[in-house]
Amino acid sequence: MKELKNIQVLVATEEHLKYVDQVNDAIDQASKERGTGIARRTYDYIASKMLDGKAIIALDNGDTFAGFCYVETWGEKSFVANSGLIVVKDYRGIGLATEIKRKAFMLSRTKYPTAKIFGLTTGLAVMKINHELGYRPVTFSELTDDEDFWKGCQSCVNYDILQRTGKSKCLCTGMLYDPVWDQEKKVEEKPEEKKKNNGWAIKYTLLDIINKLKGNKNGTEPNNIIGFTIFKKKKS
Ligand SMILES: CC(C)(COP(=O)(O)OP(=O)(O)OC[C@H]1O[C@@H](n2cnc3c(N)ncnc32)[C@H](O)[C@@H]1OP(=O)(O)O)[C@@H](O)C(=O)NCCC(=O)NCCS
Repeated sequence: MKELKNIQVLVATEEHLKYVDQVNDAIDQASKERGTGIARRTYDYIASKMLDGKAIIALDNGDTFAGFCYVETWGEKSFVANSGLIVVKDYRGIGLATEIKRKAFMLSRTKYPTAKIFGLTTGLAVMKINHELGYRPVTFSELTDDEDFWKGCQSCVNYDILQRTGKSKCLCTGMLYDPVWDQEKKVEEKPEEKKKNNGWAIKYTLLDIINKLKGNKNGTEPNNIIGFTIFKKKKS
């Protein structure tokens, strides 16, 4: 039984170039099994990702290839995609893809802090992982319009659907993380209010809202409550 604790998940470097063929072979095999076109990348493309510090590699006991993913920018770096995710069969189901995607997400946030991060997938595992990272499902209109990104779909068996719909929909679900959402969340959370309320965010009742809109008894202006938010308790 493979164990996650024995696997190192690293930003790949020059020393990992020897794994490029194994990465591509694993992608080929998965593509055949799934019956969808996960495109084989060229040796040079995967190698350049490693040399540029834009790839994540997972190695069991320091040297056995177990998984991979890379980061690519689109639309003049306004979008980032974490692509080419692959976990070798023997290492599936132990949380390795989750670790690889988490590392790729952190790498993307560090390298391109203002970029939106996105992906296309039909896989439930990837949807779950993306959701945990803060991605939301979106229509394709919210993703990059960079033609070169969409050209990557040409090798997929479903490409005719994408063409027929003018790139507006296909069998994949588009998922997006926008860093702006985190800033909005910080504003919403108002930590001092949460502290006052014993860790819970304040809930406004309808009566609170009506009273605030009416203003106070001294006839002053109504309080500004445009930005009020009803919070759920955070998961512990
Ligand atoms: C998809 C893939 C990367 C998942 O790797 P993995 O290491 O097994 O995934 P994890 O163990 O991190 O699982 C992540 C979550 O997905 C779930 N999951 C894993 N495989 C799943 C599957 N085949 N169907 C449904 N859910 C699955 C896990 O239970 C886990 O959910 P949880 O957090 O609720 O427990 C791997 O199966 C693979 O390499 N497939 C072939 C290539 C591929 O499809 N790449 C993705 C292209 S978009």
